[in-house]
Amino acid sequence: MTVCEAPGKVYLFGEHAVVYGEPAVPAAIERRATVTAEPREDDHIRVEAEDLSLNGFTVEYSGGTGDHPDVDVPTPLVEAAMGYVDAAVRQARAAADAPDAGFDITVESEIPLGAGLGSSAAVVVAGIDAATRALGEQLDRRELADRAYRAEFEVQDGQASRADTFCSTMGGAVRVEGDDCEPIDAPNLPFVVGFDGGAGDTGELVAGVGELRDEYRFAADTVRSIGDVVRTGETLLADATPGVDPSRELLTELGELLDFNHGLLSALGVSARSLDSMVWAARDAGANGAKLTGAGGGGCIVALDADDATETALSFTQECEESFRAELATEGVRVVES
Ligand code: PMV
Repeated sequence: MTVCEAPGKVYLFGEHAVVYGEPAVPAAIERRATVTAEPREDDHIRVEAEDLSLNGFTVEYSGGTGDHPDVDVPTPLVEAAMGYVDAAVRQARAAADAPDAGFDITVESEIPLGAGLGSSAAVVVAGIDAATRALGEQLDRRELADRAYRAEFEVQDGQASRADTFCSTMGGAVRVEGDDCEPIDAPNLPFVVGFDGGAGDTGELVAGVGELRDEYRFAADTVRSIGDVVRTGETLLADATPGVDPSRELLTELGELLDFNHGLLSALGVSARSLDSMVWAARDAGANGAKLTGAGGGGCIVALDADDATETALSFTQECEESFRAELATEGVRVVES
């Protein structure tokens, strides 16, 4: 039995614009998905999932393209979860040159589904790592990140950047620009997350930004401006001392950039009333800055605040279902048991 766990992430800067070749800086957070892989005698895949907003389910199927799991929960939820696990297993089979390998897979996750915190990427990264190791192979991190990206790309019909999967594999803060992915140094940023209990439709939101960008020159300029915010943010991070608490000045400057980034994302139509309410609750509580994270439309915001005020204010905000402090996860995917 092999158990691996991989972190979720917040976007410090740059979602959506990254789709058009601008850089983005996501950062891994200490909320993890854990995947257990146990090889089977046959070629079946049995999946048990908990804490995926699915209230737990178990399915067994042979993993062939024509097969559908026989299970009594809403189809889209099963398909979403199964699609990622299935794609992860396909990558592990290919990596270990074991096309008929079967597995008992268990998925547990502390990361809300589809809420901008990279839950699917964490499941895919931990899944490929666990299943490959269970077959006696070990991928280096770059290859693991690449295979995880390809799995997401396949499930999401080509609408995936490398940001989530690279960040979840490597941990810490990373910089992604097209196919170019690098870990970057970052101080110990005091992230606070607010979650509205919902989720946005990433495909629809990405398509909406694309349409605006095609229609209006100023929308294309807005996308480029997000790139400028990211480049400014990167310079600030590069000048900071990694791994330590950031100075008050740095937090003020980064916070200003978060606010600006949120405004530009709002202009592109990807915020939501609930996200704006949480952003303003954080700002009113004295956060250094706040923005939506991920595709938007619903889901999560991220704020910077070294004190408890933002987390407390969010917990009293009607639109906020859950608020929590999210430590930077300096370690990416890791083996818990092998
Ligand atoms: O909501 P998430 O965490 O899947 O983030 C989507 C980020 C986008 O930039 C909107 C799309 C992408 O694949 O980069």
